[in-house]
Amino acid sequence: MSYELSILNLAKEAVKLVKDVKVVGLGSGTTVAFIVREMAKLRDKGSIEFVPTSLQIKLEAEKSTLRIADEKIIPDIDIVFDGADQIDSKYNMIKGGGGALLREKILISAAKKVVIVADNSKFVESFNRSVPIEVHPMARSLVSKKLEEMMAKPVLRILDKGYPFVTENGNLIFDVLFPSITDPKNMELDLKNIAGVLEVGIFTRRADIYYKAKTDGSFETVTLH
Ligand code: A5P
Repeated sequence: MSYELSILNLAKEAVKLVKDVKVVGLGSGTTVAFIVREMAKLRDKGSIEFVPTSLQIKLEAEKSTLRIADEKIIPDIDIVFDGADQIDSKYNMIKGGGGALLREKILISAAKKVVIVADNSKFVESFNRSVPIEVHPMARSLVSKKLEEMMAKPVLRILDKGYPFVTENGNLIFDVLFPSITDPKNMELDLKNIAGVLEVGIFTRRADIYYKAKTDGSFETVTLH
């Protein structure tokens, strides 16, 4: 099953939203990278500043010769393009598969408009995968214990060869399986309340537009606002 052609097509459509804007936020992941490559073709890209959420997407933006903004510009973000790991029927999202959740949540909360691009397989009735949680290294055991008390199963994210994954902010990631997630908003707040938890991969701000890539080259657009 390949979504590549659909993502290419939807990327061409999505970049049309980059009109009369000064600052564009870039989420992370392979899907957003398609959009960034399409942005390389924008005629007025020189007048736009781009805020990346990770080195992965910053490298893509550099290859597309986009102007990288100073991070201090964050309060004035006009539009953010981001991917997702899972999207439930109420359009809550799980993000953080690439470990960029902290910066992604900052941009999404600051942006005037949020656009999410994802393939069909990410859309589910209710969440059925682990939730990435970014944790300060000093709080590793404490947070793990608190999560277990919530009947969750936290697994420290480990790279090949056994090295722990360290985020670009110098923190660790727990991929956490919960018995169920019936109230994402409250769960997001409860988890953020644990000392040492820096960000939670449950995103409950609704995006303005979701692009859903299919396997036949087509895509669907869902507009919520
Ligand atoms: C990054 O940390 C995630 O939030 C990404 O948005 C997510 O992993 C999507 O990546 P793909 O587009 O590669 O599936």
